[in-house]
Amino acid sequence: MAQLKILSVASECVPWAKTGGLADVVGALPKSISADMRVLMPAYPSIDLQGRTLWRDPDLFGGPARIVASKRDGLSLLLLDAPHLFDRQGGLYGDGADWPDNPLRFAALSWAGAQVAAGQLSSGWTPQIVHAHDWQAGLTPAYLKLLDIPVKSVLTIHNIAFQGLASRDQLAALRLPEQAYTPQGVEYYGLISTLKAGMVYADAITTVSPQYALELRSAEFGMGLEGLVQARAQDMHGILNGIDTQLWDPQNAEFAYSAASLHKKKRAREALMAECGLRGEGPLAIIVSRLTPQKGIDLLAHALPDFFEAGGMLAVLGSGEPSLQQALQQLAAQYPTQMSLRLGYDEAWSQRLFAGGDAVLVPSRFEPCGLTQLYGLRFGTVPVVARTGGLADTVVHANHAALSTGAATGIVHEHSSGDALREALLQLSALYRDQPTWKAMQSRGMRQDLGWKASSEQYLSLYRQLLRSQTL
Ligand code: ADP
Ligand code: GLC
Repeated sequence: MAQLKILSVASECVPWAKTGGLADVVGALPKSISADMRVLMPAYPSIDLQGRTLWRDPDLFGGPARIVASKRDGLSLLLLDAPHLFDRQGGLYGDGADWPDNPLRFAALSWAGAQVAAGQLSSGWTPQIVHAHDWQAGLTPAYLKLLDIPVKSVLTIHNIAFQGLASRDQLAALRLPEQAYTPQGVEYYGLISTLKAGMVYADAITTVSPQYALELRSAEFGMGLEGLVQARAQDMHGILNGIDTQLWDPQNAEFAYSAASLHKKKRAREALMAECGLRGEGPLAIIVSRLTPQKGIDLLAHALPDFFEAGGMLAVLGSGEPSLQQALQQLAAQYPTQMSLRLGYDEAWSQRLFAGGDAVLVPSRFEPCGLTQLYGLRFGTVPVVARTGGLADTVVHANHAALSTGAATGIVHEHSSGDALREALLQLSALYRDQPTWKAMQSRGMRQDLGWKASSEQYLSLYRQLLRSQTL
């Protein structure tokens, strides 16, 4: 059977542009799926623009633009070069505050996606399905429908908290017709939401775990879009993320180890403790995270003192909101030999933490999928996670039954509760003291299949299902 042609439209893709898990997913899926999947993304200034120009537009939302095709790192990229929108210093979405023209910048990306779907590339390559990710690509399914471009689309919601809001008076600038500005279209509480637009116009919607797909129907997690999620429940699918098991492999860590040679992980732990100046008899927990309210970082202040008292240690790597950074700095200053903190974004250091840590903490208030608990499983770094979203789907809690049947892979606690986190950390300390049980848990996690195969097959069958419905 000929390979399906899929266009993935996204604002991030590893290793070229990343602020979170979205980039990991967009970069890993094309490598594992049996399809010709190409990724359309902005040509941010750090990205080398070598390649063939396949499309030009003298006025893409206010300036000239082109698409450059390039194969690198095993991926087929379509780079949207639009200097007036993407050639600027700072983060992908802003420099401190969001760029005020973000709605336009990503409408341009979405528009370019629709043009590729309409067969505008000079190479003649036209996708059979468009797969749009998050609010940044949310307008692609809308343009496809509104411009009558006969290509089916899938929207993946990686995080419903980011809704791509723009003021109503930008409707024309975003190239949306007046009739689309209704509650059944792109209107959202007096504004425009590009995420909502994607959810309305895509032929299918996915999110990144089965549990989050269910949670999104409730007001607590749906964040205003729960009604739409309920209305589209038939077209909504929860497909769990995988991880790139080559990029994330303890065999490639500084002190290489595997499930069969777990004793070597100790060396990574000792080196990490020495480098961070940590001392203690208990487990060494790590956190690698964006520092935002979503991640439950503020719950730590309540939970850590008893954990440290019991001999536990913590090494944190994160960046984000100044108030959370300050709170962590205060804790680290208060417990200099039990806690170490590195502020910033550092892939190499994060791998060292996973290799050297005993446990990874993910106390999120909500978590669509979460990748760090999966990296933890892969590295024998036992996950301690909140019972929400993909965290609940991927970690088996060490209760009595799961421990005695040998199913447990981590500790799962009630979400959004400092007390529950405190209890979980005390359970962590107790489990760590029981080394035979602990080691069994570590190696069980390491032996799990965490790659993309199963999930990429689910995406493929969804694409095929959409194509079949087209020909009926
Ligand atoms: P989210 O996308 O909500 O931030 P995920 O767990 O899906 O959460 O993905 C986060 C990704 O970003 C992971 O690959 C994680 O290792 C990485 N990451 C987060 N913060 C940092 C940091 N400060 N340094 C290095 N990597 C980080
Ligand atoms: C989002 C979510 C995270 C998920 C990631 C990749 O950033 O917050 O839970 O793992 O997208 O899908």
